[in-house]
Amino acid sequence: MNSKSFFVKSYGCQMNFYDSEKITSILENKGMTEKEEINHADVVIFNTCNIRDKAAHKVYSDIGRVTKLSKDKTIAVVGCVAQAENSEMFNKNNNIDIVLGPQSYHLLPQMINDSEKNKEKLINTDFIINEKFDYINEEKKSKGVSSAITIQEGCDKFCSFCVVPFTRGPEYSRHFNDIKLEAESVSARGASEIILLGQNVNAYNYSYKGKNHDLTHLINLISEINEVKRIRYTTSHPINMSEELIKLHSENNKLMPFLHLPVQSGSDQILKKMNRKYSSYDYRKIIEKLKKYNPNIEISSDFIIGYPGETEKDFDETLKLVEEIKFTQSYSFIYSERPGTKSASEEDEISSKVKKERLSVLQEKLKDIQLEYNKSFYDKSVKVLVENQSISNPRYFFGRTPFMQSVYLESDRVKIGEEMDVKITSCNHKSLYGIA
Ligand code: SAH
Ligand code: SF4
Ligand code: F3S
Repeated sequence: MNSKSFFVKSYGCQMNFYDSEKITSILENKGMTEKEEINHADVVIFNTCNIRDKAAHKVYSDIGRVTKLSKDKTIAVVGCVAQAENSEMFNKNNNIDIVLGPQSYHLLPQMINDSEKNKEKLINTDFIINEKFDYINEEKKSKGVSSAITIQEGCDKFCSFCVVPFTRGPEYSRHFNDIKLEAESVSARGASEIILLGQNVNAYNYSYKGKNHDLTHLINLISEINEVKRIRYTTSHPINMSEELIKLHSENNKLMPFLHLPVQSGSDQILKKMNRKYSSYDYRKIIEKLKKYNPNIEISSDFIIGYPGETEKDFDETLKLVEEIKFTQSYSFIYSERPGTKSASEEDEISSKVKKERLSVLQEKLKDIQLEYNKSFYDKSVKVLVENQSISNPRYFFGRTPFMQSVYLESDRVKIGEEMDVKITSCNHKSLYGIA
């Protein structure tokens, strides 16, 4: 047992936030107490992201800020920067006590005890993914209306720009029964929406008694839980969009008509260089099929701008695809060179000015499309799952449409966790506003 207090700071993707909740449960079960403020905690855990240069650097400035205030804290760096930079982290910042990769969070309580007792620096960055899932079954205590559950980790795709295969290791799926148990447990505590998470969530495959169970099977299994009203999955890779999964969007009415399916670029030349394993034609075909089975479905994407060798023509092809598909929500980033990846060895001759201009042109276009789409809801009624209530004014609530739009609504009758018909009265590109 350890009576010390801790604070976890999370960066990066939803899977890191999920892991942080698990870390919190693991430490609380060992007698430690979570603090609301970083300055009040004996142990500070940074759950890091290595996806872009900026994200990876942030942890060092944050550690600097914390250790300036007090030198007595135990500092643990976990997550993807820990995995990628390894013992090099101790050289970069001597205040770090523990470096722990994403596969072994169950070791953290012991490492904290040992590091404090022996005043030594400890590190573990082994890849033992199946062990992680054995330990991660520990219950989460969070009580959200929308609850994320990691079902798959890692990546075998090796896109030439990406660190994930190196930081999270090979693709590995969790036992479907454990996932179902976790879904039952969170829905019994108030979750009406389950978001299935994975770096390649639609590559989910668990072989049991000689039979393969894919994401389609898992979604159907979870939709049997009465309290679960909505199911989503993220992030998917286009090459794993099976016919069955596409069809499921017309067959399972708990599966939401919204899909995050990152395309990265609209240019075949760039897609090839990125090693994405599909062409812009393949991507268009997948969307066409999705819309054939469910005409209501909306798509969001990630884009990388300024990948080495991206010409004006390549960029125009991305814009063309955006206009055609009309992505209703998206993330776009300037290419960031990552150590150890294949594209790090490519000549990056596009000027930063050009990259910034392209990013801003793309983001303006995405914003216009999003605004047009949101405007189409004006004066209409839409089903909103109510997630939160405003603390300052109890007549105001927050929720989401089936298409992931944020809705701020005013009502004196809605209940948190319920789906309500909301009349949309105004909007901007980010959100809808309405009454119920
Ligand atoms: N597995 C998912 C994406 C996971 S990473 C997929 O294949 O789509 C999340 C996003 O970060 C990626 O979609 C990509 O757009 C972005 N990203 C990854 N590496 C990057 C890099 N080196 N520079 C800029 N953006 C990057
Ligand atoms: Fe990274 Fe590509 Fe794997 Fe996605 S599919 S995590 S972008 S390597
Ligand atoms: Fe970042 Fe690791 Fe997620 S690099 S995006 S935290 S898988």
